[in-house]
Amino acid sequence: MTVDEVVKFVDKMVFEKTGKHLDDIQTAVVEGTWKRQTYDYIASEYNLSSSHVGDVGSELWQLLSEILHEDIKKTNFRSTLERIYIKSSQMPNIYIGNNHFNFNSQTLNQSDKEDDKSNINTESKLSIYDLTLAPEIIKFHQRGTELEKLSDWIFKQNTRLISVSGLYGIGKTTLVKKFIDLNLHKFAVVIWRSLKYPQPLDLFVRGCLNVCQEEPQGTLDKQLKQLFNILTQQKCLIILDDLQNIFIPVKFAGQYKVEYQDYQNFFTMITEIKHQSHVIVISQEQCSEMEYLDDELCPIKSSELSGLYNVDILQNRGLKDENNWLNLIDLYAGNLIDLKSVSILINKNYDGQVADFLAENTLHITNQMQSRFRDVLNHLSPQEKEIVWHLSKFDIPITRDSLKEGLNLSVVDFNNGLQSLQERYLVRKVRNNTILFQLSSVFREYVRNYCQDLGHIC
Ligand SMILES: Nc1ncnc2c1ncn2[C@@H]1O[C@H](COP(=O)(O)OP(=O)(O)O)[C@@H](O)[C@H]1O
Ligand SMILES: [Mg+2]
Repeated sequence: MTVDEVVKFVDKMVFEKTGKHLDDIQTAVVEGTWKRQTYDYIASEYNLSSSHVGDVGSELWQLLSEILHEDIKKTNFRSTLERIYIKSSQMPNIYIGNNHFNFNSQTLNQSDKEDDKSNINTESKLSIYDLTLAPEIIKFHQRGTELEKLSDWIFKQNTRLISVSGLYGIGKTTLVKKFIDLNLHKFAVVIWRSLKYPQPLDLFVRGCLNVCQEEPQGTLDKQLKQLFNILTQQKCLIILDDLQNIFIPVKFAGQYKVEYQDYQNFFTMITEIKHQSHVIVISQEQCSEMEYLDDELCPIKSSELSGLYNVDILQNRGLKDENNWLNLIDLYAGNLIDLKSVSILINKNYDGQVADFLAENTLHITNQMQSRFRDVLNHLSPQEKEIVWHLSKFDIPITRDSLKEGLNLSVVDFNNGLQSLQERYLVRKVRNNTILFQLSSVFREYVRNYCQDLGHIC
């Protein structure tokens, strides 16, 4: 058992009991105690007083004693944890390794005492959580409405397929992980998968079966049956993050690459087959599965995230002039990644003075934003690039007709391109008396400044 595994193991237990993760000092106490360091030593390493570290330690041992129903002290912490960890890895239906476990201490203790696994009904008590690739959420602001919406869809409406979509950096992954942190105990199985480095559906299904301690059988068809059996018998939640990576670049949005076409069938099965589980897909691009969403009876729901307009998101970034923070947030349309990136720049070049930065009257595109938008442009179809280029010339939203007039595209190409850009959240529809279209402001600034001629992007 490595020290990282110990910290994760303890953090998981503490989180399940208290809803809070270990803080820095508690983590230091766990790490230090595991390495058989004294409180004095741990305190000196972290510039703290020994008495404070000792207090944090005693509170932690008390909490762990309650969780484990054993007397845990600094002196027996390591040996007890090792024994429990080994024991838990031998138990059926618990999956341990990296983060792949939900540790049910009562079951384990029962096992310890009786030492007779055959007498234990672990089925009803154990849950399986594979959150290895899910981010840890430390700061979280707002999004109360979105969290409620997810709860309502999942726990009240039994929505089987949910999509959370929006621009890169807008907070999709964070929102879904926060939802899991708040509701973990309501699911028997939670599996988080990222398609950042995509895998074909058969590998994904096999992985899910393995996590659920089910031996994958024969063909994909049989394995899907196994998986749907699990989804029917228990309330499971499967997350597929970064879905946009299985779509074809340089085509219109949301079209599956040939090798990942099976995912489309899988999503259809998730909506059509009756079961008690849920799949949440997170994506920067919409796809056809997310489209027919307004129907009340539809087993699919979609949440489209927009920016966060709250000064709290700029706290602890070394920024000054708090009165101006909302203007900065407005400038970058509440995109958290862009705000992070520009905060670093303001710190480095303006000594954190937000007012000085805003006085330049420039929507500054940082190096990080440039490389991201270059990537975005490289993924667009030629029709979309033409529309983007033309739209970037206007400071105000324009009508569909005015946009079309300036372009040499057929009606079909124009309409498909315009739809696709909205499905990537690059073009915004503004409803006035009439319908108007506009590029997202930061993206527009990038196109204007870094794509000097049409040939550059088309
Ligand atoms: N509600 C929130 N409160 C505070 N920070 C957030 C929130 N949502 C996202 N962030 C931060 O913004 C950044 C981008 O969020 P992320 O969820 O990765 O975006 P996306 O998945 O849409 O690309 C992360 O650093 C994350 O910590
Ligand atoms: Mg993400």
